[in-house]
Amino acid sequence: MSHDEFPTEHPAVVTCGLPYANGDLHIGHLRGYIGADAFSRALETLGQETAYVCGSDMHGTPVAVNAEQEGVDPEDFALEWHEQYEETFPQFNVEFDNYGHTHDATNTELTQEIVRTLDEEGYIYEKEIQVAYDPEADQYLPDRYVEGTCPYCGAKARGDECDEGCQRHLEPGEVEDPTSTITGNPAEYRERTHKFFEVSEFAEFLTDFLDGLEGTSNARNQPRQWIEDGLQDWCITRDMDWGIDYPTADGEDSVAPEEQREGGGEAADESDLVLYVWVDAPIEYISSSKQYTERVGADEYDWEQVWKGDGEIVHVIGRDIIQHHTIFWPAMLEGAGYNKPRGIAATGFITINGKGLSTSRNRAIWAKEYLEEGFHPDLLRYYLTTTGGLQQDVDFSWEAFQEKVNGELVGTVGNFWYRSLLFAYRNYEGTPDADVSAEVRERIEGAIGDARESVNDYDLRGIGRAATRLAQFGNEYIQRNEPWKLTDDEPEKAAQVIRDCVQIAKAIGVLLEPITPDKAQRLWEQLGENGAVADAHLEDALEAPPRRFEEPGELFGKIEDDRVAALTEKLEERVEAAAGDDESDDAETESDDTAADEAEGMTDTDDLEALADERIGFDDFQELDIRVGRIESAEGIEGADDLARLEVDIGFETRQVVAGIKQLHDLDELPGEKCILLTNMEKAELFGVESNGMILAAGEEADLLTTHGDAAVGEKVR
Ligand code: MF3
Ligand code: ZN
Repeated sequence: MSHDEFPTEHPAVVTCGLPYANGDLHIGHLRGYIGADAFSRALETLGQETAYVCGSDMHGTPVAVNAEQEGVDPEDFALEWHEQYEETFPQFNVEFDNYGHTHDATNTELTQEIVRTLDEEGYIYEKEIQVAYDPEADQYLPDRYVEGTCPYCGAKARGDECDEGCQRHLEPGEVEDPTSTITGNPAEYRERTHKFFEVSEFAEFLTDFLDGLEGTSNARNQPRQWIEDGLQDWCITRDMDWGIDYPTADGEDSVAPEEQREGGGEAADESDLVLYVWVDAPIEYISSSKQYTERVGADEYDWEQVWKGDGEIVHVIGRDIIQHHTIFWPAMLEGAGYNKPRGIAATGFITINGKGLSTSRNRAIWAKEYLEEGFHPDLLRYYLTTTGGLQQDVDFSWEAFQEKVNGELVGTVGNFWYRSLLFAYRNYEGTPDADVSAEVRERIEGAIGDARESVNDYDLRGIGRAATRLAQFGNEYIQRNEPWKLTDDEPEKAAQVIRDCVQIAKAIGVLLEPITPDKAQRLWEQLGENGAVADAHLEDALEAPPRRFEEPGELFGKIEDDRVAALTEKLEERVEAAAGDDESDDAETESDDTAADEAEGMTDTDDLEALADERIGFDDFQELDIRVGRIESAEGIEGADDLARLEVDIGFETRQVVAGIKQLHDLDELPGEKCILLTNMEKAELFGVESNGMILAAGEEADLLTTHGDAAVGEKVR
């Protein structure tokens, strides 16, 4: 299944993973919300009808545990954070069309309705399972109430997720050596009856779904592997009070009579069970869309068309929640008769000094803190969307932030905007009367094309790049034409050059709006444009700006070195303190460290293989015949979990090689990619397939080595 390019005739919804209403937001969270906001704005610049919705994730142990620690009621606790988030997002120009929360009536009703449908369709059954229990606390221990070891990868894991290791979802009872996070005691097991959703029934559907799924390749590859490994059914209830009650069959009253609740016994009655938070949380995507329709009317935005008809559903998520969005969620949607996501973009993590952000260890840059520093939100938006590809982990430093801002926003974009508008204002009091030259028109059209392509590739960095490259061209264009020398002797030529520059300035504004909406709007106003640049479409980049405008001001200011030095020092102190914590409190209960340490982008040398002591001569090196190749085909090898068979063109011939990259790459996307091949490696046979060469790669995720210039296929690496 392939999709028509954006823009399509159908309405779209863009969502991002709901934030747990349980603590302060940091730049790791913001990467997702800003990214999804930018993507939804970018769709709109294409003329795609789009709603951007989200809400707070109010339930589950992430909220319950933290509320308990503070000794407050989970509902009050979550609502307070919810209100804070509602205030914080607009401060980063993250503008949701609707922002709800999972505990509101819309979501409670819709969740129960969907679960009831799944039940009626025969996808839900009951099973007795062993549930962790803390006798001292006299409490069951779902999810974050228990910690132990991941049975898949051996990392330290929470009850329901391998958050520091392989990122898998864990079912109740799966975590090994469980201890209670309440008392630290080893957990006991007790038998309870729970509800299961038959995810295993959906294997074929999910395989097809993944084949047609757009977005980032990690969101296709990991789930393919999980399906291959065999899908387990999913426990969708928990022994907790806080959450949405499991619905009763008739849909009447979902609260049970007192005697049933108190009834004791080990068999959990439906009435004791709340739904697992991962059931009601994604349903908020639908509920929030519905609330948006309720506000603006179905003529303007029809949530049912989106979710039950032919709408385009795009989820932006963190890479830690791929399984929930590519396995459980589409299976639920399919089972309940809803539309499926078109695209899932899973972002990498933000790290500091190569380590995952941690709320409990204060290893983070906080949203509030950033704003208090007085930095404009658009600077962070630009940094977060254009540093690294969406899938990559990004190591934050104030130096890198400064470099991006000063180099690209101040030096390239701001500089171009200011000098062209100022020149136009001083000499023509606005846009000179002249036509845009063919050269410049073509350049702008090219940038529009690049931006459109980037949106269709879910490539935010590409959108930013289309804009900064145009600004780079603009600066060269001024430099090359030296309009200041032309005004006296060749006034017509001068007018035309400046006319071109004003058009380029406007075009950059239109292109950058998704990423730096406020700065783009201010440029818009400087150009004397009415209305909002957010309403402009890409084609408007070619429309003439108004004839007159006022004296422009500079839109970006340099970040000074001493400021960065002070911020870096502060951050270093904080990171050191956090590192101390890392060592001293292994038993800490709350930890939201991401698994970034073992992912790409890692810079912590503690985890790197030591450098070789022994030197080799140049002759030794020469013996390695390493060549530039181009992958012609790639397919998995049957029976081998990790291995792929590749055909690689190395100029003289095509080589068959076997590489351990099956799980780590989207094999469909490899043909056409350049790679580096050690050609005089001894031949080997793996799973009956001959390997005639070795593909070079680095890192845990087998990042394939390549060349970045014009080195031809067959060329030797030297
Ligand atoms: N609150 C979850 C987290 O932070 C994300 C929920 S996303 C949704 O990991 F799909 F459930 F909505
Ligand atoms: Zn694991």
